[in-house]
Amino acid sequence: MSKNLISIQDFSKEELLHILEVAKEFEANREQNFLAGKVIACLFFEPSTRTRLSFEAAVNRLGARVIGFPDSRNTSVAKGETLEDTIHIVSNYVDMIVMRHPMAGAADIAAKISPVPVVNAGDGANQHPTQTLLDMYSILKTQGRLENLKINMVGDLKYGRTIHSLVEAMYYFNPTFVFTAPEELQIPKKYLEFLDSKGVKYEFAEKIEDHLNDCDILYMTRVQQERFPDIDEYNKVKDFYKLTADMLGNVKPGMKIMHPLPRIGEIALDVDETPYAYYFQQAGNGMYVRMAIISYLLGYR
Ligand code: CP
Repeated sequence: MSKNLISIQDFSKEELLHILEVAKEFEANREQNFLAGKVIACLFFEPSTRTRLSFEAAVNRLGARVIGFPDSRNTSVAKGETLEDTIHIVSNYVDMIVMRHPMAGAADIAAKISPVPVVNAGDGANQHPTQTLLDMYSILKTQGRLENLKINMVGDLKYGRTIHSLVEAMYYFNPTFVFTAPEELQIPKKYLEFLDSKGVKYEFAEKIEDHLNDCDILYMTRVQQERFPDIDEYNKVKDFYKLTADMLGNVKPGMKIMHPLPRIGEIALDVDETPYAYYFQQAGNGMYVRMAIISYLLGYR
């Protein structure tokens, strides 16, 4: 049976650390061609810039070839073909499937059908495990360690799949989490129950300023309009947070601001010029981490 990456919990602590190690090697030498002859499908049923293009770049840098689609409206899904049938068909053609889908659980359905490895590139508001690995890589690069960090997560913690995966991975490293969100967007109870079961410390806040000056990582997120069943509910919370450069006068010197991107209005442009902004480099790290994930799942590294 092939190994998949559907939830971040599919990887042990050792596997997570292994991926980070291999990503570091690939960052030092990104021209790798050991997957020549392999074909990888990137099936994106939901919009993406970073995840799709960094996966496609990763496939190319590993010497493999990529097929797929950035928009399922040009596929037989538009004629009513089911996800299951799409996976049955595509898995005949390729050595791995990378898939993003708006439905939580879609990647799990695909993995149960596919004889080749399936990588979840984001399923609804559920999980985004490859983002988590690049987030961990970014944390390690900027902080020099993963252990004992205070991570302040801000914004849409309810629908933010990157939040859900990251808390489930960082628990290994004795973090203290701050969950900064309006009540409507607080992190779902099941993740708090998970952290409680692991003895992880966390606290809640409503304003960014509450834990701006004592955190190591400020993890900002976008309020995800596409997940709200009611647009009025979105309009109530969409402008809740805006981080500006003048708020950063007393932060820890090594503090880094991360964001899975895209940003809408939650980080002002003047923050980009500060030494704390790390979100563009974070996105750049994604290609090396995705190279490592592909190599590992295909049994090469
Ligand atoms: N971080 C992330 O998933 O970005 P994209 O939606 O552009 O892939």
